[in-house]
Amino acid sequence: MKIMVVGGGGREHAIIKKLLENRRVEKIFCLPGNGGIAADAECVPIASTDIPAIVEFAKKEGIDYAVVAQDDPLILGCVDELNKIGVPCFGPDKKAAIIEGSKVFSKNFMKKYNIPTAEYEVFDSAEKALEYLKTAKIPTVVKADGPALGKGALVCMTRDEAFAAVREIMEDKKFGSSGDRIVVEEFMTGPEVSVLSFTDGETVVPMVPSTDHKRALTGDKGLNTGGMGTVAPSPYYTEKAAKEAMEKIILPTVRAMKAEGRPFRGCLYFGLMITPEGPKVVEYNCRFGDPETQVVLPLLKSDLLDIMLATTNGGLDKIPVEFSDCAACCVIMASEGYPQSYKKGFEINIPEALKDKVYVAGAKLENGKLLTSGGRVLGVTAVAENLPSAVAKAYEYCRDISFGNAYYRSDIGKKAIEALNK
Ligand code: AMP
Ligand code: GLY
Repeated sequence: MKIMVVGGGGREHAIIKKLLENRRVEKIFCLPGNGGIAADAECVPIASTDIPAIVEFAKKEGIDYAVVAQDDPLILGCVDELNKIGVPCFGPDKKAAIIEGSKVFSKNFMKKYNIPTAEYEVFDSAEKALEYLKTAKIPTVVKADGPALGKGALVCMTRDEAFAAVREIMEDKKFGSSGDRIVVEEFMTGPEVSVLSFTDGETVVPMVPSTDHKRALTGDKGLNTGGMGTVAPSPYYTEKAAKEAMEKIILPTVRAMKAEGRPFRGCLYFGLMITPEGPKVVEYNCRFGDPETQVVLPLLKSDLLDIMLATTNGGLDKIPVEFSDCAACCVIMASEGYPQSYKKGFEINIPEALKDKVYVAGAKLENGKLLTSGGRVLGVTAVAENLPSAVAKAYEYCRDISFGNAYYRSDIGKKAIEALNK
């Protein structure tokens, strides 16, 4: 089979490496991919949001199956357009991808179907939002309705911060038209767990739960990022929490999307907070998480391509989806300064023996050399029989990898290990 993966970060690298385990896979193209992915797939310089060019490429190459891994193309309807020319895809169509594409949609959807989430109000004018915030409970969370590169949720610890957040999003248009409407939400507390789930629109199979580390710096300091490291399984997702989430959140969501005429096929990501009242939804994503995928897929024992095809064609209930009992830890090696400004263009040195432990996110090839080209550069993943060993191993690997301006948090998995020991 000729496969095309749309996207170009660590998540896509992890998906490609897993797909290559299937012997039916003859060739994988990655659009646009990156300098590190080029070791495993043919990278094609087409932007992941250039849907007409993606469709044209698929037609020209006779692509048998497309994996649309990134949020923007999914929200823009890449799957719909590829389906129109007869290319089956992994990932939801535009109608279903709205579950991530619009916070207003997802909040109203959860309210309608009684799915536990933070209380909220929707505003389409800054004036009304500012008036409401004069007396609203603080802390609060202000979120842009549309996509904002994962930066559209502002947790506000004071009233002034909340006023400033509304002005930034609605008046200064920090996230463009994504901020035409906002959601103002109750502030929840508790550990966060990402539950990525395969679904064919009927059957839903949760993957091993993971926990991301969103803040840039060690000790949960610094700005929110796309994610600085992950561990799986997440110790916060106890049997009780998992049962409750399945009954009150995961199954009801999949059934309700079908009832709405928006059956979801692909990977539905449940961003949960385990609050004192039980699991609640922080956000839905219409795709695999990044860097969650870099710990979840290495633990998948079953064949990824077979599972993906079953989400597309139906029959997921008849396919094995099994995970190993081991644990995994992914430490993101970033460019110092990320998520703000940082220097790039430094050579990356990865010992040969560690090449299969590394997912490349932000690098380019120049004259045969791998150079840093992004904020998140590498995802270094270790698998071991338990979480403390996986964390220790991932850090051992990181110490043997080098590039100029490298920074990584030194406490990925620390709290999770403490929680295990409680
Ligand atoms: P989101 O983009 O909605 O996933 O939010 C990004 C991050 O902001 C989450 O991972 C949480 O850490 C935090 N966050 C979002 N919503 C809430 C909330 N209602 N209460 C507390 N923290 C939140
Ligand atoms: N790691 C968070 C996300 O993929 O949205």
